[in-house]
Amino acid sequence: MMRAMHISLEHPMLAAVVDDLATHGWSQQALFVPGELVRALATECRRRDAEGQLNPAGVGRGVAQEVREAIRGDQIEWIDPGQAEACDRYLDVMDQLRLAINQGLFLGLEDFECHFALYPPGAFYRRHLDRFRDDDRRMVSAVLYLNENWQPQDGGQLRMFLADDVVHDVQPVAGTLVIFLSGEVPHEVLPAGRERLSLTGWFRRRGSDLF
Ligand code: OGA
Ligand code: MN
Repeated sequence: MMRAMHISLEHPMLAAVVDDLATHGWSQQALFVPGELVRALATECRRRDAEGQLNPAGVGRGVAQEVREAIRGDQIEWIDPGQAEACDRYLDVMDQLRLAINQGLFLGLEDFECHFALYPPGAFYRRHLDRFRDDDRRMVSAVLYLNENWQPQDGGQLRMFLADDVVHDVQPVAGTLVIFLSGEVPHEVLPAGRERLSLTGWFRRRGSDLF
């Protein structure tokens, strides 16, 4: 069995993400994880899809959650440790990133939750923020794309609405990681012309126990 990857907190890519987050509130990194891990994650996502484990994503949280395809049309499944080696390796990398962000930004991030997402052709996700009205634990959003040979004409871009009316589109290309402050960057997923795979996750701080 392959050992978990070890990325030191001083790794230049982690440092770059932390620096970008601190100065602009977002960051984009090509080749964030090795191609071989990206392919293993894509294979795991397709395997779950083939076994019927992906389910239509909901909007909202808890009992208020509902499926609304006019808002989002992706299919998801949450990842837990111990399910697949590729997922565990990714969770290890993201834990290093969590520690690096805490060191640089003092956000007090406690955990990372993430799910596979599969957008069938034509699916999209309307403009939104990643924070729920009744739950502000999500601090930083992180999306890793798993799509080999993605072309701009395939659509499916992540469109981010940044400060000063700047709009930035991210191509969902295999190995690209995009990361942003969950409560501050509205974004949408444009309709994808072909199947679009990603691993979408959130670093969370501890919740207050008031709810
Ligand atoms: C989300 C989301 C963006 C993407 O799942 O909340 O905005 O590019 N995903 O998949
Ligand atoms: Mn989102």
